[in-house]
Order: sequence, then C-alpha cells, then structure tokens
Amino acid sequence: MAQRETWATRTGFILAAVGSAVGLGNIWRFPFVTGEGGGAAFLLVYLLFVALVGFPAILAEFVVGRHTDRNPVGALRAYGGDAWKYVGGIFIATGFIILSYYSVIGGWFIRYAIEGLRGDYASHIAAYEGDPEIMFGALSTGLDAFILHTVFMAITVGIVALGIRRGIELAVKVMVPAIILLLVGLAIWAFTLPEATGGYEYYLSPDFSVIAANWTELLPAAAGQAFFTLSLGMGVMITYASYLGEDRNLAKDGTAIIGFDTGIAFLTGLVVFPIMWAGDLTEPGSGGPGEIFVAMTQAFADIDGGQFLGLIFFATVAIAAISSAISLLEVVTSYAIDEIGVDRWKAAVGMGGLIYLLGVPVTFDLIFLDLLDYFADAILLVFGALVLTILVGWIAPQVAVDELEKGIGDLGTLGVVWIWALRIPIVIVLVVSLYLGIVEYVDFLTGMEEGQLGWWIEENL
Ligand code: PHE
Repeated sequence: MAQRETWATRTGFILAAVGSAVGLGNIWRFPFVTGEGGGAAFLLVYLLFVALVGFPAILAEFVVGRHTDRNPVGALRAYGGDAWKYVGGIFIATGFIILSYYSVIGGWFIRYAIEGLRGDYASHIAAYEGDPEIMFGALSTGLDAFILHTVFMAITVGIVALGIRRGIELAVKVMVPAIILLLVGLAIWAFTLPEATGGYEYYLSPDFSVIAANWTELLPAAAGQAFFTLSLGMGVMITYASYLGEDRNLAKDGTAIIGFDTGIAFLTGLVVFPIMWAGDLTEPGSGGPGEIFVAMTQAFADIDGGQFLGLIFFATVAIAAISSAISLLEVVTSYAIDEIGVDRWKAAVGMGGLIYLLGVPVTFDLIFLDLLDYFADAILLVFGALVLTILVGWIAPQVAVDELEKGIGDLGTLGVVWIWALRIPIVIVLVVSLYLGIVEYVDFLTGMEEGQLGWWIEENL
C-alpha cells in the first residue's frame, strides 16, 4: 500500500482545518440563523455552545483521527471495534448530503460575483422588475444554478484529486489569508456606514427574555450551527488529523481553529448587519436561505461603490465555500481510497460525480435545500457528535487521553475533566438538542405536507 500522505508544514494542517470550518456556515448560514433566533440572544447561546461543547468535541475528533491514521469508517472501526464502522458510514453519508447542496449554494455566490463583474447591482435588480427577490428566484434555480453547481463541483474535485499537499494544502494557503483580509476590509468599510449603529445594536445587545421564551428552538439551532460551522460531527477533523505526521499539540491547534472560525463568524456579522441596515432591511431572518443574497444585492445597489464591494463580498464567500467543500469531499474520497481501494483521482472524480448528481434537484427547487440542510445539521451532525462523544468518553477514554498527551505532555486532571465533560454534560446537551431537532424537523415536515410540500406535489407531480 502506498504511504499515507501527510501535511507538508505545521501551518498546513491548521489552515486546512480553518479553511474547512470557515465557509457558508459563517457567512451564508450564520446571519440568517442569527436573525431567526432573534439576533444577539442567539449569538450568546451559540458562543457558549462553541466553547463548552465545540472545543471538547473537536479534540475528540482529532485524537481519533491521529490515533488511527484512517478515514472515518476505518478510524471508528479501529478505535471502537467492528460495529463502529456503521457509525463511520453515517459520517460519510452526511458528507455526501451536505456537499450536494453546499455546492449549489457555492455556485450562487460565484454567480453573484459574476454579476458584479458584468455591471452594477442596481441595473441587475432593475432587470428583474426592480425586485432582488425575483432576481434571486431566477438565479437560484434553473439553468444558471445548474451550470454554476457544475463549475463549483468541478473546482472542488480538481483540488481534492491533486492530493493533500499539492491540492488542499496549497489551495488553503492562498484562500484562508485572502478570506480573512477581505472580510476585515469589508468590516472596516461597513463601520463607516451611517446606519451601522442599528445593525450593531441588533447583533450585539442580547435580550434575555428572548432566550428564555424560545430556548427549545434556540438550543437545537445553536447546536446545529455550532457543529456545522466547526465542521464537526461527520469526520472532517478525523480525516484531517489522520494526515498529521508528527505529534502536535492538538489542544493548541483546536483552540486556534475554533478561535479563527468564531472570529470570522463574528466578523461576518459586523459586515452583514450594518449593510442590511444601510439597505433598510431591519428584519433579518425573515428571508431564509435567499436572505443574504436579497439583502446584500439590495444594499450593494443602494450604496456608493456597491458594484466593487459586492464583487469582493460574493467572491470572498465563494472562496470560503470552496475551502470547505474540499474538506467535505476529502472525507468521502479518503473513504473510497482506504476502503474501496481506488486511486485518488478515481475516488475524487467518482464520488464528486455522485454528490453532484444528488445536488441537481436542488437547482430545480429550493424545497430540497431546506429538506437536506435541516436534516443534515440539526439531526445528522448532532447525532454524529453524540456518538463520537460516547465513543471517546465511554468506550475508549484512556486511549484518547494518552493520544492527546502526545505533543502536550502529562495532562493530569485536565484529561479527567475533558473525559468527564464528554461523558455527562455534553452527552446530555447533545441528546436534548437531538431530540428537539427531531421534533422540529417532524413539525417542519408535517407543516410542509399541509402547506409547501402539498402545494409542490400538486404543481409538479
Ligand atoms: N464548516 C463549513 C462551513 O461553515 C461547513 C462544513 C460542515 C464543512 C461540515 C465540513 C463539514 O461552511
């Protein structure tokens, strides 16, 4: 068997993990989920979740990956015993599902960036009856969406096919610094907008009564968002850690990755909310998945220099989306390489092709996007994180602590604290989040039967 590839440099691993974490979750999803959750109240619950659950959970994925040097299926089998490979299988399926629609959304961002190259956003909106929602409707489904889904997936497959060092590591070394610089620039510029204060206020001053009144919705939404944005619960961090050749300090790396991801999500809020307020859009969260497109194009149409800023904004998000998509495809590809025994090119192209096909229906009707996105992040990712927590916390805790100590030294009671955090509080929080997530999903499906879904079936079948 060929020698397993490793990261070429110390920063390569961190940048790849940051590149995976920072993506549509931070920029497309975060603002509208924050909006739906009532702004600052949601932000607070989400931040707590990231620190108290996200950090112990990312370490769990790291140790399993580095200890076993395998893809998630092989890793869980080696770590927990034969039956655990089925859990690994769920991870692969989750990656499959998320990437299928992720690519469609990534394609929209490429499309909106192209609009910025072609002319100013005001005249684009004018071409769609002056309504950015109609514009979004036209661009998000149909031939345009289909073509850009194809482009997005082709880029992703190309990078992953090139391998860890020549593909992923090289790509993220350019992409991640670019994303950070561009977002910082945009945030500084957003600060100069006269309407910024209103946006900041909405975003930054939590209303505790909102949290108390809505916790059954806030908790699963915050949990799903935390896992989604940190790329946890489906084996990305297992896979990336499996390419670590040396014994690094995983706690330090985990802190850096979470710090960057959270910082960038937060920064995005500082870009998006002031711009929305400048475009007179003061009800975030009402527009769902299209919201950021509708709101941003409206705002970019209204403000000076909007064409250029819009181009930068949409292109930044597209880059961030690609650096995440490669991690999703890498999980599935590493599985095909290790377990089916095909070479990297065939694995990336074959799996990428299948995922691409699964995404095609989304380019026809956005109902599939809601169905897949909600299922993946509120149920699959939380489930994935839960089983991994049980594996590390209850089934093989000593191996985990020993592995974490490599590169750090004796952890003493900190190791015990980590394991007990995983064992009880985190398991409980995840079980509750999962339960609430399932209840909400069932509600959503039954609601759809009467409403949207029934209508959709009548129209289309
Ligand atoms: N973390 C990525 C984002 O925020 C999405 C992602 C989820 C990537 C799960 C990999 C695994 O966009």
